[in-house]
Amino acid sequence: MTTGYFVTGTDTGIGKTTVSCALLHAFAAQGKKVVGMKPVAAGSENGQWPDVELLLAAGNVDVPRQKINPYAFDPPIAPHIAAQQVGMEIDFSVIHRAYQELSAAADIVIVEGVGGFLVPVNQNQTGADLAKSLNLPVILVVGMRLGCLNHALLTAQAIKAVGLPLAGWVANCIDPQMKVLAENIATLEQRLDGPLLGVVPFDLEMHAQESAKLLDVVTLGSY
Ligand SMILES: Nc1ncnc2c1ncn2[C@@H]1O[C@H](COP(=O)(O)OP(=O)(O)O)[C@@H](O)[C@H]1O
Ligand SMILES: [Mg+2]
Repeated sequence: MTTGYFVTGTDTGIGKTTVSCALLHAFAAQGKKVVGMKPVAAGSENGQWPDVELLLAAGNVDVPRQKINPYAFDPPIAPHIAAQQVGMEIDFSVIHRAYQELSAAADIVIVEGVGGFLVPVNQNQTGADLAKSLNLPVILVVGMRLGCLNHALLTAQAIKAVGLPLAGWVANCIDPQMKVLAENIATLEQRLDGPLLGVVPFDLEMHAQESAKLLDVVTLGSY
């Protein structure tokens, strides 16, 4: 059985953190020990990284923050450039060691990627390489808006290209004005090679515990 999932998205700002937190609550509701991980965070607000805080709050095991988030950079820019600006390079072995500790403490680790799937992470590796090196099944968050069909299919192709399974996908409705939403979801159901785990509606107030009830984590196969 897998010890975790890698959550990627059709873009940045489309609901990876929102869905990762919902997934953590969904697994916790099944009696699992869960922890979120944000290996690389870029973009601080008042000395904090919102993704890290949200993932921390959604988990139910006590682990050092440094393991949940080994790399954090202040500017909201591409991670390899943020790292370069402070004379660092993101090292996968550091992320691997942190992941091992998290997976020893929890039944399920939800790893939120940075940006989209192919975002560069260091001078010669991408988010896809990170997912591959952790060898995790991928959950794709599709931010439902015009253009998402292309982004979702490209991402699915990139997931396949590194040889990882698409464990499932989530339709996250980030655009309340989106036209033909149901038809777009149906199109992706037909073309994506993994189950639709759920549809999260546009709702600015919804807590992760509520959206968790919309996600069918039982549908996730065993990997
Ligand atoms: N279904 C939704 N309805 C309303 N707002 C949402 C929804 N999903 C995400 N958002 C908001 O969109 C923004 C980006 O979401 P986030 O989960 O942080 O994206 P990512 O992790 O991909 O960058 C956040 O302010 C979040 O609260
Ligand atoms: Mg995020």
